[in-house]
Amino acid sequence: MEIRAFEEHDWSQVWPIIEQIVRKGDTFCYDPFQTEAQAHDMWVVPSPGHVVVAVEGQRVLGTSNMYPNRPGPGSHIASGNFMVASEARGQGVGQALGEYLLNWASTCGFAGVQFNAVAASNTPATRLYERLGFTVIGTVPGAFRHPTLGPVGLHVMYHDLGA
Ligand SMILES: CC(C)(COP(=O)(O)OP(=O)(O)OC[C@H]1O[C@@H](n2cnc3c(N)ncnc32)[C@H](O)[C@@H]1OP(=O)(O)O)[C@@H](O)C(=O)NCCC(=O)NCCS
Repeated sequence: MEIRAFEEHDWSQVWPIIEQIVRKGDTFCYDPFQTEAQAHDMWVVPSPGHVVVAVEGQRVLGTSNMYPNRPGPGSHIASGNFMVASEARGQGVGQALGEYLLNWASTCGFAGVQFNAVAASNTPATRLYERLGFTVIGTVPGAFRHPTLGPVGLHVMYHDLGA
């Protein structure tokens, strides 16, 4: 598996991964009915953000984007998102994307990485982030309307980079 910068021709494989995840509506605070064009605008963030794909040969297994969490006085903290194709999960793709993001943030001089909205019900993501060194700073009660579980908490998770 290789992680490399997203190229526009990857979109035809990235969109089905995003579409399945957003339509399900059980992980991200994204509009589950968004169009492909809206998803492209949302995911393919402009510079100084960065978008990558995890590939095995020609096959895209997963994708991540990363960017300053907030503008102005918040721009020294990075953030980002991960999506792995359902059939490629549990094989370390998320771990590799997470390590890539931390390395990118560190190399770019960010002081830390903040995830703003990790659904408390999203055990795979929470475990992955904790394994990468993130901690739950706090949880906003009931801030995520899970489609089957109802209101669940949203974790703010943080990884200091010591910059
Ligand atoms: C969260 C997500 C990105 C994790 O991606 P992933 O590729 O499955 O993550 P990993 O494979 O690195 O780790 C998942 C599990 O597989 C295990 N694993 C890692 N490499 C493995 C391997 N070679 N063989 C078997 N299992 C492995 C890990 O130990 C981990 O186990 P855990 O359940 O004990 O935590 C993925 O589930 C996803 O895309 N979910 C939907 C979107 C989403 O929730 N995104 C995050 C929103 S905050």
